[in-house]
Amino acid sequence: MKTILITGCSSGFGLATAQHFLDRDWKVIATMRTPHEEVLPRSEHLRVLALDVTDDASIRQLVEAAGPIDALVNNAGIGVMGALEGTDMQTAREIFEVNTFGTMAVTQALLPQFRQRKAGVIVNISSSTTLKPLPLLTVYTASKAAVNAFTESLALELQPFNVRVSLVLPGRSPETPFSKNAQPRMQGGIPESYSSFAQGVFAGMGQPSAVTRALDVAEAVWRAVNDPSSPLHIPAGADAVALAESR
Ligand SMILES: NC(=O)c1ccc[n+]([C@@H]2O[C@H](COP(=O)([O-])OP(=O)(O)OC[C@H]3O[C@@H](n4cnc5c(N)ncnc54)[C@H](OP(=O)(O)O)[C@@H]3O)[C@@H](O)[C@H]2O)c1
Repeated sequence: MKTILITGCSSGFGLATAQHFLDRDWKVIATMRTPHEEVLPRSEHLRVLALDVTDDASIRQLVEAAGPIDALVNNAGIGVMGALEGTDMQTAREIFEVNTFGTMAVTQALLPQFRQRKAGVIVNISSSTTLKPLPLLTVYTASKAAVNAFTESLALELQPFNVRVSLVLPGRSPETPFSKNAQPRMQGGIPESYSSFAQGVFAGMGQPSAVTRALDVAEAVWRAVNDPSSPLHIPAGADAVALAESR
């Protein structure tokens, strides 16, 4: 039985992916900043461990507790929407600390066991915003574009060790609490000079359109982990697939 470790499993894509792999006879290490075992059904194949991807000590403790794993999913991430002029640099750094440096740090910490065994898969959750730029998402998109570039280079670097690396690119998913969780970072994000422009952008987002389901992301991660012939970039969700095809 194989073991997958997933970051950011308290809700959304991470939670759905943990459930998906548990249902398919994988051992799952579901990590959360604050472990809430009750979000997943009880299972002898499930372990819920604490992990804050921005905290080196937390990462060290996780690596010791986790033991051998076959696949890592860097899913933990936070968002922010607003004009660059309305986004303070502390918030910009916070976004990169979680989305970009968190992904790098957790990967670096778990990599030695993959390299030594000459086996393993790493899946990084990026975003379809990197396929087509959208306004008011500068900092978030930059943090995910950096994940893409990091992942593309890492895939080459790990080829000699038979470690596969993939990117899953989800589209917009109103089903997860991602936007709600971003709200506290968005105070003052739209300065007065941008307000009529921003209203147009928000009105456009309110129009009916294709979206991404958490299950789409779980299925894309499943494919990335289990199909060695899967591409490096895997769009997840009808909107992300359409964007990828239009490029
Ligand atoms: N929803 C979308 O529209 C969308 C679209 C494209 C890509 N994505 C990406 O998909 C991933 C999952 O997002 P989601 O939609 O499932 O949102 P979500 O439900 O808010 O999940 C994000 C997860 O990240 C965790 N997290 C935040 N900061 C963390 C930290 N410092 N250390 C460890 N975990 C941390 C959160 O845990 P806590 O409960 O502890 O905060 C939560 O479990 C993110 O990388 C996001 O950027 C989302």
